[in-house]
Amino acid sequence: MRLFLRPVKKHASAPVGIFDSGIGGLTVAHAIQQQLPHENLIYFGDTAHLPYGDKSEAAIQAYSIKIADVLLKHGCKVIVIACNSASSAAYELLKEYVRHEAHIINVIDPMVEFIATHFAGKTIGLIGTKRTVQSGVYPRRLELCHAQVTLKPLATPLLAPMIEEGFFNNQISHEIIQQYLSDETLAGIEALVLACTHYPLIQQEINHYYQGAVPLLDSAATVARALQQYLQQHQLLAPAATPRHQFFVSDYTDSFEAATQLFFKKQIRLNHYPLWN
Ligand code: DGL
Repeated sequence: MRLFLRPVKKHASAPVGIFDSGIGGLTVAHAIQQQLPHENLIYFGDTAHLPYGDKSEAAIQAYSIKIADVLLKHGCKVIVIACNSASSAAYELLKEYVRHEAHIINVIDPMVEFIATHFAGKTIGLIGTKRTVQSGVYPRRLELCHAQVTLKPLATPLLAPMIEEGFFNNQISHEIIQQYLSDETLAGIEALVLACTHYPLIQQEINHYYQGAVPLLDSAATVARALQQYLQQHQLLAPAATPRHQFFVSDYTDSFEAATQLFFKKQIRLNHYPLWN
């Protein structure tokens, strides 16, 4: 339990916390590293509880609070919810929970803003987990922007576990992706939102299906820009120095280790951090 009642002043050199159910949020962490190369990153992959997309809102909220506690314990100045399922289930709660200690950024708002600016009046498909699609958060937030976007959401629950298992760029992943994308819900779309942070890992295969004719919108770069903007506005950009990144997982998995190396191009030490003992 946290006893801070007054805002805690954060230092620019404090780390940025990032979390997801597994490897998906590494796509966001990677974009942040590219955009803000001096930031110290602490990544938490809740591999013991993935996939989040099939869990109840209450379960995801409980996991998110536990993870926020870990990130706050490490002094994070900002927490990035690098997961659409957790952003749709737990953003409001987390914002309230860490209110005095850190700023929270979710992956949905920067994307909604991007769609409203660049795709107003268009018909846009969206694929994501059951939790994200059933929450209705994207249509609700887009509605608030009055962007007149016709959104066609489709839950694609097999994709995140498939990617997490390292199944991509092979015959099985091709067939599953083909099956989902040929669903009539997505007929006639002019762009497709990848509303799960795991999906940039199968971007090539999705592109192949559309022969490059449908722009694919993933949130990693927009979230990194939103973070940069916040840090700039609050004089919290890390000073130029070699950053230190730390990776925590609630359960050790080979695929997580392989994915960290894929993105960060070096041997990464994974710290095992069970959320419940
Ligand atoms: N990467 C996550 C998302 O953006 C979670 C996928 C999952 O664990 O189901 O929704």
